[in-house]
Amino acid sequence: MPGGLLLGDEAPNFEANTTIGPIRFHDFLGDSWAFVFSHPRDFTPVCTTELWQSCKSWHQKFAKMNVKNVALSIDSVEDHLAWSKDINVYNGDEPTEKLPFPIIDDKKRELAILLGMLDPSEKDEKGMPVTARVVFVFGPDKKLKLSILYPATTGRNFDEILRVIKSLQLTATKQVATPVDWKEGESVMVLPTISEEEAKSLFPKGVFTKDLPSGKKYLRYTPQP
Ligand code: BEZ
Repeated sequence: MPGGLLLGDEAPNFEANTTIGPIRFHDFLGDSWAFVFSHPRDFTPVCTTELWQSCKSWHQKFAKMNVKNVALSIDSVEDHLAWSKDINVYNGDEPTEKLPFPIIDDKKRELAILLGMLDPSEKDEKGMPVTARVVFVFGPDKKLKLSILYPATTGRNFDEILRVIKSLQLTATKQVATPVDWKEGESVMVLPTISEEEAKSLFPKGVFTKDLPSGKKYLRYTPQP
């Protein structure tokens, strides 16, 4: 597929029609982080569970972390709005309740192509590729910090998405990296590029170095700064 974004690329400042009206992407984001996620089609089962998860029960968590959610699929605003009623009812809410984030109308697939979101192996009734389950996280500088790609048949795990955004936000300002399965509050690793002397002053809570057969002192933990 042509198009697509690599880590560090700036998000294009596209204009789009959405369920909250037209947006220009950078203006919409302001100084926030962004969680941009595409889904294959409106009115499909896995997508309905995902949109419920991301809007109703998780939206507040994203908002508290200064993250704006934006959804996108190759369906029209009219379809998104009609489908929103199903999402609300699936969640036990009034059908007419407004979803707390916009869904982009990309029926011409222009953004899906620009952003590299199409899945050539998943087609609509006309044989045209639909959007994969893409996760893009952009920082306040509008640059791509994380990209994960799921096929249509595998729904996302929003615990993991929140977890990685917490790691991205921490590591954007502190000279640390988060180890396997890290969760907020757990120890983190000192970056290998930081000298021992620098580490002492950067991490006053202490740096704990694991002895290894290689004798190399690269496994250095510190409490989460
Ligand atoms: C779904 O959301 O359930 C779905 C959408 C497209 C293909 C397969 C599953």
